[in-house]
Amino acid sequence: SIFRSVQSAVARNSPRRSYSTHSVPERKVAVLGAAGGIGQPLALLMKLNPLVSRLALYDIAGTPGVAADVGHINTRSEVSGYMGEEQLGKALEGSDVVIIPAGVPRKPGMTRDDLFNINAGIVKSLCTAIAKYCPNALVNMISNPVNSTVPIAAEVFKKAGTYNEKRLFGVTTLDVVRAKTFYAGKGNVNVAEVNVPVVGGHAGITILPLFSQATPKANFSDEDIKALTKRTQDGGTEVVEAKAGKGSATLSMAYAGAMFADACLKGLNGVPDVVECSFVQSTVTELPFFASKVRLGKNGVEEVLELGPLSDYEKENLESLKPELLASIEKGIKFANQS
Ligand code: NAD
Ligand code: LMR
Repeated sequence: SIFRSVQSAVARNSPRRSYSTHSVPERKVAVLGAAGGIGQPLALLMKLNPLVSRLALYDIAGTPGVAADVGHINTRSEVSGYMGEEQLGKALEGSDVVIIPAGVPRKPGMTRDDLFNINAGIVKSLCTAIAKYCPNALVNMISNPVNSTVPIAAEVFKKAGTYNEKRLFGVTTLDVVRAKTFYAGKGNVNVAEVNVPVVGGHAGITILPLFSQATPKANFSDEDIKALTKRTQDGGTEVVEAKAGKGSATLSMAYAGAMFADACLKGLNGVPDVVECSFVQSTVTELPFFASKVRLGKNGVEEVLELGPLSDYEKENLESLKPELLASIEKGIKFANQS
């Protein structure tokens, strides 16, 4: 967990222990959009991760300040800031993991799809550069609408001849983080022990938490499960409304993004049984991309896990989310191929 990562980062820097990199491979992580609401706390959390040896912070503005600030923290990684398109190549070169929280966030009344017109172009140009400068990196896509930006990235990589479905991830970890928090709160169980898979996509009804598979078991009525499902699906909107025009989730997203990147790094380093939910190329349903549990390893995706047994309520929700999710996927593919 992040806490263990922080503790071990602190331990490594304690004067009583000699610092050694022998057992921990060198890993470069790049954050694109690093001066933004997510980017800044995400840069902080990645700086605290002892698995990172180089941290590249890229944005169109503001990164020198973020990099100078975060770079003074006495943990393992060396931090560099890169600003403007002419420095993007340097930021990306040699990256093992690229995290993308670049783009505009929602305001009250907007859907994630309302961000498409601006963010699709941003993602397309960033992915074109990834294909050129670090085609083997694992890409963690945070920019919304994730249901479309991941297919856009796939198409850009296909055109560049660098696509490998094992290396492209839509970050849906925040849905899992929320489902765990809401389930533990309502069921009065220890949140640290809770596990809930969240499948489908990352927008409204396409977000499908599988509370029937949640552990530890809590006694919920059908009405409780419906309310928990709806709250998880509307979690992003809850934050957008509470922020009242000042953007969407940034701090919880930075936490979720740092957790997911940490899982990717552990997988690359050969840690066994690293499993996280993510929106990936998939044959679990008839849709070309779908979020489900994914086993991470040295090549990125090692295995896309099946959905497992669903309740009747979840089966119904699964069928109703498919048309919207497919439309968002096709919108992304079409954009990437026509522009
Ligand atoms: P923000 O506006 O605070 O920050 C975005 C940053 O991206 C800014 O610093 C901006 O300069 C930068 N940027 C814009 N164009 C760029 C480009 N071409 N290259 C590099 N950087 C560029 O927004 P935020 O709150 O950090 O949100 C960022 C994105 O993340 C939004 O699209 C939001 O919807 C999405 N998001 C996704 C999830 C998720 O669960 N996947 C959760 C929260 C937010
Ligand atoms: C979230 O789930 O918080 C993000 O996708 C941001 C948003 O627009 O809701």
